[in-house]
Amino acid sequence: MKILVIGSGGREHALAWRLAQGARVQKVFVAPGNAGTSHEDGVENIVLASISELVAFAQREQIYFTVVGPEAPLAAGIVDSFRAAGLKIFGPTQAAAQLESSKDFAKAFMRRHNIPTAAHQTFSDAISAHEYINTRGAPIVIKADGLAAGKGVVVAMNLDEAHQAVDMMFAGNKLRDALSGADQKESSKVVIEEFLEGEEASFIVMVDGKNILPLATSQDHKRLFDGDLGPNTGGMGAYSPAPIVTPKIHARIMREIIQPAVQGMEKEGRTYTGFLYAGVMIDPQGNVKTLEFNCRMGDPETQPILLRLKNDLMEILNHAVHGTLDKVEPQWDRRTALGVVLAAANYPGTPRTGDIISGAVIADSDKQPEDAHVFHAATAERDGNIVTNGGRVLCVTALGDSVKMAQRRAYQIADTIHFEGCQMRRDIGYRAIAVKK
Ligand code: AMP
Ligand code: GLY
Repeated sequence: MKILVIGSGGREHALAWRLAQGARVQKVFVAPGNAGTSHEDGVENIVLASISELVAFAQREQIYFTVVGPEAPLAAGIVDSFRAAGLKIFGPTQAAAQLESSKDFAKAFMRRHNIPTAAHQTFSDAISAHEYINTRGAPIVIKADGLAAGKGVVVAMNLDEAHQAVDMMFAGNKLRDALSGADQKESSKVVIEEFLEGEEASFIVMVDGKNILPLATSQDHKRLFDGDLGPNTGGMGAYSPAPIVTPKIHARIMREIIQPAVQGMEKEGRTYTGFLYAGVMIDPQGNVKTLEFNCRMGDPETQPILLRLKNDLMEILNHAVHGTLDKVEPQWDRRTALGVVLAAANYPGTPRTGDIISGAVIADSDKQPEDAHVFHAATAERDGNIVTNGGRVLCVTALGDSVKMAQRRAYQIADTIHFEGCQMRRDIGYRAIAVKK
C-alpha cells in the first residue's frame, strides 16, 4: 500500500523513514520532502503545492492514507478537503486545528473547560496592551495570535522588552493583514500572559476522535544558545523520554489537560482527530499548566520519539484513521534517544541558504549507524551537492543506554558533519542529565 506524508522537515523525514519500514508498505511519498527523504529506501519526493493537487495525486495513486506533518496545511483545511474527496487522512479539521492556529481561541477554550494555563488577556490595540503591561509588571509573556512557527512569542524579562514586543507584534500583524487582505479586527490580536516558572515538557498523543494514545514523552530546547539563553527558535534539540514526566505527572497531564481538551473539542462540535501536542510547564510542586497546544507532532521531538518506536508505524496510523487506537499497544525502546539540531547561519533570523554540507553520513545516506539516524530538514540537492535550504538543516538523533550516552553518540556523529555557519547547541539533554545525578 502507498502512503503520503505532507511536509518537508525533520519530523516528516522521521515519519517517512519509519512508515517505509512497515511490512505492508509499498511506497511512501513525501510532498515536498527534502534531500534526506529523497535518498531513503522506499520513499519518493513529489513536488506538489496546492491542496487540490495533493487530493488529485492521492486519488490517482490510490494512496491508502495521508499523514500531515506541519500546521500550515492543517490550518488551511487539508483534512476537510481530503475527507470531502473520500480520502483517509490523519490530522485535525480546520475547525479543530484552531487549537494551534489561534492562541486566542486556545486560551478561551482552556478557560471554558477548566484546563490549567497561564492567566492571560487578549488585546486588539497597542495602547491597552501597553497599559496592561504597566499594571502587571515583568517578567511577562507576549504572544502574537496566529501561526508564527514558534517565533511569535517573547518572554520579556523587563518592561522595556515587553513594550517593544507589543509594538513589534502589532506592526507584524498589520503587515500580514495588508499582504493577505484579512480583516484587521479579526487577526490583529496580541495575547499577554502571566510568566510561568518551572520545567517544560512536550506531551504528544494520537487521537482518533474518541480514543487517546499517548506517545513517549520528550523535551525540546527552544532557545538558540546553551543554558537556554538567546532567542526562541523552532527547537534546537530534543530527547525522549523526559524524566521530569514521572508516572504521577503523566497521569495529571492526561487527567487535567489532554482528556478535557479532547472531550471539550467533541462537546464544541470540533471532534479532534490527529496528533495533539501539549506543551506543559511543570512546577516544583508537580502542578502542570498548558503553555500551548499544537495540532501536530513536535519538531525536533518526533525524531527521538520515532527512533524509539518499535511498532510498525503504518499499523498504528491505520488504527488511528479507523478509530481503533484502543487496540494499539505501543512498544518503546528502553534506551534514551537524543537529537541535536544543526541550524544554518543567521537562524532564527532569515537563514543563509546554499552552504554545502559535507560528511560521510551525508554523502552516503544509506550508511546510517545502527544506533542513530541523521534526519534532514532544510536540505536540498544542487549540482550534485547537498546544501542548506532553510533554518533548521539536520537533526542528528542517537540512542544510548543513558541520556549521557545518547548525548555523546549524537555529538560524535554531529561533529563529522560540516557546513559554513553551522549553529549547534552543545548541551542538549542537560536537564535530564542533572536529574539522573
Ligand atoms: P509557545 O509557542 O506558546 O509554546 O511559547 C514558546 C516558548 O515560550 C515556550 O516553549 C516557553 O519556553 C515560553 N513560554 C511561553 N509561554 C510562557 C509562559 N506563560 N511563561 C513562561 N514561558 C513561556
Ligand atoms: N519543537 C516545538 C514544536 O514543534 O512546536
